[in-house]
Amino acid sequence: VPTGRQPTAAPGAAHDSAFLRACRREPVPHTPVWFMRQAGRSLPEYLKVREGIPMLESCMRPDLVKEITLQPVRRHRVDAAIYFSDIVVPLRAIGLDLDIKPGVGPVVADPIRSRADLERLRPLEPGDVGYVTEAIGLLVDELGATPLIGFAGAPFTLASYLVEGGPSRNHERTKAMMYGDPELWADLLDRLADITAAFLTVQIEAGASAVQLFDSWVGALAPADYRRSVLPASRKVFQAVAGHGVPRIHFGVGTGELLGLMGEAGADVVGVDWRVPLDEAHRRVGPGKALQGNLDPAVLFAPEAAVRAKTAEVLAAAEALGGTGHIFNLGHGVLPTTDPDALTRLVAHVHEATAR
Ligand code: CP3
Repeated sequence: VPTGRQPTAAPGAAHDSAFLRACRREPVPHTPVWFMRQAGRSLPEYLKVREGIPMLESCMRPDLVKEITLQPVRRHRVDAAIYFSDIVVPLRAIGLDLDIKPGVGPVVADPIRSRADLERLRPLEPGDVGYVTEAIGLLVDELGATPLIGFAGAPFTLASYLVEGGPSRNHERTKAMMYGDPELWADLLDRLADITAAFLTVQIEAGASAVQLFDSWVGALAPADYRRSVLPASRKVFQAVAGHGVPRIHFGVGTGELLGLMGEAGADVVGVDWRVPLDEAHRRVGPGKALQGNLDPAVLFAPEAAVRAKTAEVLAAAEALGGTGHIFNLGHGVLPTTDPDALTRLVAHVHEATAR
């Protein structure tokens, strides 16, 4: 859908930002910082604008998406914005009956369990998410040289919500399908890969200058199962967007044993949770890829001196990368009751400590 907008910022105004330079492993003026789940959650200004508006509805209102995406950039001076949305937005956009329950997460009315259910996963057309194109257009104009990260859920993590019908600790139904009906599983992941690739493409074409593929729950798998049953679909997503030349970030929780494979899937930047130090992650991922992470989000509840000490450990381990190719982040999303000021102080501190 052509928007007809006239961008005020030059195309690619963010090209030389510290964040994109670090993704490309070029020299940086300081280590760039952003936080997964930096929008929403702990910010009072977020809770204020969201009052009375359901989560999924807020994702479809470009004015609101623009405001919520900008809030953490204004407040914390992070080096990148992340588009305000949710991993289930493209699934809602193709007509699946699902909702996000506060304090619970995504809930699917009729879970996907059989071959007949696959028919409900039709391809995503750009026109299904016109509000995304519109919101990103507004955002890139406003952000100027600050890069915007687009994102999507990876096929495994989306499949887990669809097959279980909601959040799951053990992913037993998901694994039952994966082990019990590999052909159905592969077809499910393939359809999700196409939807995800289409959703990321919309975001890139609208102006996102990097994309992150969240495979949040894939750490539940052993490497051999990841390689056989997940990697082909994630690779399809990364290959589909490779031609745009924007950095591709891949992240999951508890994925220490999968870091090498997640790089192999086609990521330029591999996200690392707090369980594996970045020097060890660098050995596992190998040369040629940047790393993102990995301060334990719970550390932000400790006194400032402890935050500084744990941050110093992260920065010291990142030196293994050789002076660039590190994007500072938390090892998972900002926890809901985090003091926003602790985040603001952390951004300033990392910038200062790494100024070159
Ligand atoms: O700032 C940002 O990072 C952008 C916004 C964002 C949201 N969801 C908004 C949101 C992002 C990047 C996501 C991704 C997402 N959603 C993931 C991958 C990231 C991760 O944490 O591993 C996953 C697994 C989901 C699914 C989901 N949606 C969960 C687990 C929840 C939390 C449920 C809860 O309330 O604790 C949601 C809801 C959600 N997504 C909220 C927000 C701001 C909270 C809803 C609300 O404020 O009413």
